[in-house]
Amino acid sequence: MDLDRLIQDRIRDVPDYPKPGVVFKDITPLLADHVAFAGVVDTIVNHHGRGTVDKIVGIEARGFIVAAPVAYHFGAGFVPVRKKGKLPARTYEETYDLEYGTETIEVHVDAFTPGDRVLIVDDVLATGGTARAAADLVRRGGGNVVGLSVLMELSFLHGRDKLGNLDVHSLVTV
Ligand code: PRP
Ligand code: MG
Repeated sequence: MDLDRLIQDRIRDVPDYPKPGVVFKDITPLLADHVAFAGVVDTIVNHHGRGTVDKIVGIEARGFIVAAPVAYHFGAGFVPVRKKGKLPARTYEETYDLEYGTETIEVHVDAFTPGDRVLIVDDVLATGGTARAAADLVRRGGGNVVGLSVLMELSFLHGRDKLGNLDVHSLVTV
């Protein structure tokens, strides 16, 4: 099986989760397959090229799983963007809309050196609210956002439309 097919094959549809009528895209079978997981990490790094990125931003929680090995493989630093209240030092915060209510994410104010080339990595791009808030945090911190890489893009939610001219790279589009 080629890598693209393997990756798609290892994403499991779970009907009626987290609520009736929703089909959840579960990446845990992919993470448990070392060939598929390594293939995801390698594909993201190869897409951009080693030496083009100074820092990888991972978004809590599922984004951390993909972003940390990507940072290691790039030879780049890792910066966590976390849900409000989890980072200990001074932070910038951004609030965005969810289907019901809002979410707030934060980054340390000193996470970036001015001009750092920053790639944001998450598992899924859905409505784009999370990625947009993360990009805004990086820019406030003085970083230069060079792109967003996601394992999976739910294109019917049009998340890209929220991200302006950001370079969006997704391995699987549904
Ligand atoms: C999920 C997913 C992305 C985000 C995408 O995270 O991991 O981060 O939603 O949605 P959006 O494009 O509509 O903003 P979630 O907030 O559910 O939390 P988790 O990663 O901690 O599970
Ligand atoms: Mg998430």
